[in-house]
Amino acid sequence: MTKASDLEPEDAIHRGPPVTVDRYGPGKRVNHWITASSLILLALSGLAMFHPSLFFLTGLFGGGQNTRMLHPWIGVVLFFSFYIFFFQLWKANLFTRADMGWFTGIRDVIGGHEDRLPEMGKYNAGQKVIFWAMALLIVALIITGVIIWDQYFYSYTSIETKRFAVLAHAVAAVLIICVFIVHVYAAFWTRGTFRAMTKGSVTGGWAWRHHRKWLKELAGRGRIDPAE
Ligand code: HEM
Repeated sequence: MTKASDLEPEDAIHRGPPVTVDRYGPGKRVNHWITASSLILLALSGLAMFHPSLFFLTGLFGGGQNTRMLHPWIGVVLFFSFYIFFFQLWKANLFTRADMGWFTGIRDVIGGHEDRLPEMGKYNAGQKVIFWAMALLIVALIITGVIIWDQYFYSYTSIETKRFAVLAHAVAAVLIICVFIVHVYAAFWTRGTFRAMTKGSVTGGWAWRHHRKWLKELAGRGRIDPAE
């Protein structure tokens, strides 16, 4: 699949020194942290209901009944916050030819030799896989979650459907927790990434090293402070 541009409206280069590159505006950052907090709360409340040995986690939510009442509502928050984010970012997460080079050169990614790989746009292939996995799993979780939300939707589906939904919900939840762990690990492992979601910007060096095509496109389109 090919696409015209990776640039989002707020992306811009500031000359510095040091050179910085805007990556996320305040709206996207606030929304990202709402999504992140919701997923953490969902994992904790979901695990509390998943196995008796984890029931003690209900203490964090004011007991078993409150956990059961709150969990689906937090799921609704996750769904909407993620999907606002999704529609802002999906274009930059479409796969391109260069992504093949990232997959085949995975040893160089791990070994820190990104210079041997094709230049990356705003996101690399690993980030894109995580993005689409999150999107699919969140859809699976909300659909199966609504089916088993007995308080409001009990009468709409059969017992067999609900049984299947419980299983699919648990499988999707385990998978998204794994995806979440990889995402957070990558955010810390790639030094200098975290500030993209706190300050909203990265250093010019970070952009040059990890997302050179994106940086060059920004410069090429004149998204750079005017020279003094
Ligand atoms: C404590 C938890 C989390 C941390 C520390 C974290 C950190 C980050 C950081 C640093 C970035 C910027 C990466 C970049 O621009 O290259 C990012 C982007 C992103 N995060 Fe998170 N995140 C967390 C939780 C989540 C959760 C729970 C979700 C969704 C379920 C999520 C979805 C995303 C998405 C979609 C992006 C944009 C990257 C892309 O589209 O490929 N994050 N995160």
